[in-house]
Amino acid sequence: MFNLEKFDIKLETEIIARNFIYSDEIDSTNTELLSGKQHYKKNGTVLLAEKQLSGKGRKNRTWQSAKGLNLTFSILLTNEIFSNLNPNHINLVASLAAAEAIENLYQLRTELKWPNDILINKKKVAGILIETSIKGRNVERIVIGIGINLNQISFQGDFNFPPTSLKLEVKSEIDRETMLAEILNIFEEQLFNLEKSPENLLNEWRSKCKMIGDKITITENEKIKTGIFHDIDENGYLLLKRNNAIEKIHFGDVSFV
Ligand code: BTN
Repeated sequence: MFNLEKFDIKLETEIIARNFIYSDEIDSTNTELLSGKQHYKKNGTVLLAEKQLSGKGRKNRTWQSAKGLNLTFSILLTNEIFSNLNPNHINLVASLAAAEAIENLYQLRTELKWPNDILINKKKVAGILIETSIKGRNVERIVIGIGINLNQISFQGDFNFPPTSLKLEVKSEIDRETMLAEILNIFEEQLFNLEKSPENLLNEWRSKCKMIGDKITITENEKIKTGIFHDIDENGYLLLKRNNAIEKIHFGDVSFV
């Protein structure tokens, strides 16, 4: 069982998770928060589910996570505060927050894989799916869904990248309440920083992405492109150098050659 009281003591945020909803089973925390139902209207609402029946991954994949062992949650940002922020930047902030929380609590070295996977020893420990709902010309709500493997020790199924969990890496039980509070505390702090300077955030992200400068393969829909991971641009898009030209990649999967 998730200990709400313990989580609350560790939470130091002003806005994020001040409306916190705990669910035993749900289809997908992202889908639920995007739906805009009455109790999911408040900016910063966090919905945590012990089990998702149709957890979503990027590119129409599924996100599988054993019940009660890991963290699967979503954060809602509505158009009150933080709405002027670029969703791509928020995406980078979320991956940095999860990576930093792991490093702070467990002294592990993490690496980021574009656009937002968190790796430990070249295996994926967490993934992020950001979705938005649009009203007219404006972004009405931004939902940031985070799945992080904490205490699961075996993984079945097909994965586009080998999975791991923190328990497998540190060889001891992981405290879910402390981890969730740490991620959310850092996430909020970084959102405030982002409002002041996206450049610092982009630089922090670059310093944790060890693939920059490497030869990589990008799978974008059906297309496969090979080139050098040159950099990310000011919007967080990947810049791929091939045939002496720089190409901007908006959406895709990166793998090593
Ligand atoms: C990926 O790496 O493909 C992204 C995985 C995102 C999974 C999280 S778990 C909580 C939230 N709800 C969902 O349905 N998906 C995200």
